[in-house]
Amino acid sequence: MIPVSLTVDPAFRIGPVRRRTFGSFVEHLGRCVYTGIHDPEHPSADADGFRRDVVELTRELGVSTVRYPGGNFVSGYRWEDGIGPVEQRPRRLDLAWHSTEPNLVGVDEFLRWAALAGVEPMMAVNLGTRGVQEALDLLEYCTVRSGTRLSDLRRAHGAAEPYDIRMWCLGNELDGPWQLGHKSAYEYGRLAAETARAMRMIRPDLELVACGSSGSGMPTFGEWERVVLGEAYEQVDLVSAHAYYCEEDGDLGSFLASAVDMDRFVESVVATADAVRAQKKVAKRVHVSFDEWNVWYVHRAESRPPSGDDWPVAPVLLEDRYHVADAVVVGSLLISLLRHTDRVHAASLAQLVNVIAPIMTEPGGRAWRQTTFHPFAQASRYASGDVLQVAIDAPTYETARFGDVPLVDAVATRDEATGDVTLFAVNRSQGEPALLEVDVRSLPGLRVREATTFANPDHTWQATADDDSSVLPRPNGTAALADGRLRIEVPPVSWNVVRLAPVPAG
Ligand code: AHR
Repeated sequence: MIPVSLTVDPAFRIGPVRRRTFGSFVEHLGRCVYTGIHDPEHPSADADGFRRDVVELTRELGVSTVRYPGGNFVSGYRWEDGIGPVEQRPRRLDLAWHSTEPNLVGVDEFLRWAALAGVEPMMAVNLGTRGVQEALDLLEYCTVRSGTRLSDLRRAHGAAEPYDIRMWCLGNELDGPWQLGHKSAYEYGRLAAETARAMRMIRPDLELVACGSSGSGMPTFGEWERVVLGEAYEQVDLVSAHAYYCEEDGDLGSFLASAVDMDRFVESVVATADAVRAQKKVAKRVHVSFDEWNVWYVHRAESRPPSGDDWPVAPVLLEDRYHVADAVVVGSLLISLLRHTDRVHAASLAQLVNVIAPIMTEPGGRAWRQTTFHPFAQASRYASGDVLQVAIDAPTYETARFGDVPLVDAVATRDEATGDVTLFAVNRSQGEPALLEVDVRSLPGLRVREATTFANPDHTWQATADDDSSVLPRPNGTAALADGRLRIEVPPVSWNVVRLAPVPAG
């Protein structure tokens, strides 16, 4: 049994739990939209063709925001193709994913779906093949009440009230040579600044996200952020970060430690943003929007787009099947995001349905939960109030990618109004359980309300449409709290949630 000491103390407050940490992403990619959220033939489909079973799962997942319509897709997208009578909309080549875009779902349908699912939309504009004017047109269409050509067009399409869209992404991954309209940092920084300045002339209160690097491994990482923010700092509120992790060459140890990379990534972007702030001598801070993160087995065949003359509609793409260890990594990445709540002000699990997703669907058939669904749903449901830094004294293990890494990682939240305290913890050991001894003496009068563990003796177990519930977060009966010390045994490769609540009065 690995002995681990943890201390949870309300004095270690990092910042508030932000609902936007629990965002996700819907891109016109593979089967995310078509046969994912939208499937008019499905028995549960509504008048727009949206699957109500997927809406229900989205709600159960606890998703707060949804980024749309891409991703790489947005860099070639003409938003006007997706409005007006569906039968008159053009079919277009989607160069990003070598597919055909039928434009059956566009901005109005997506915003109706967002309202149905109870999520806040986060809209991306095309700064790859398009520019300031098209971004302004989309903003006018969506957010101006009436009396202009585009706002009246929206009304004619059935949306009498303007849409309340606060967060806007200024393009996507324009540092990447794969991106349509790929730019140098200076070219992009200028375009982002001018687009932002123009958009604020319509709505000064927008929250605007500049593209950061598409990954911390990019050769331009750091310099890209410095130059882009050098041009656009005053105009934007957030800078994006994207990261995908997977087990490489059977190196599970490094994979389980992926949050070490996410921690460093966030801290590097924050340091760069703060350096630009210092140089500009301004009070304002630019925060991080971690608007693409997940486990993605990017080199597997299912991530390869079609080629040649094959331009299918909604092909099977990026449909990764996740096992238990993948879910533990997703949990550990949530711990990292929460730990940086002072500077990570938004995040999006990429993506929501079918495409590297927690929710899977069969066309016209069943919808089911992947393993990665559970840590996300639990963190979204139980993290509340303030995030507390957890002091951890744990033995370390050696990893090929990150050096020595603690075997256990954790973060806590505390809701001052209810007195509830929740501990989220992962055990990265592949062979040994850990005994967590958590000092909560500075939070007297608590009891264990619920303790759950998500793990399986075979950590490669995957959910399927036939069986998505053999492995679920299960009650952990070892949890006990006495004399201000919580003790719990957690198995190897596990995600754990311990909910403490005030002892009822009397
Ligand atoms: O989420 C899948 C893809 O990953 C997105 O389209 C792109 O932005 C990123 O490279």
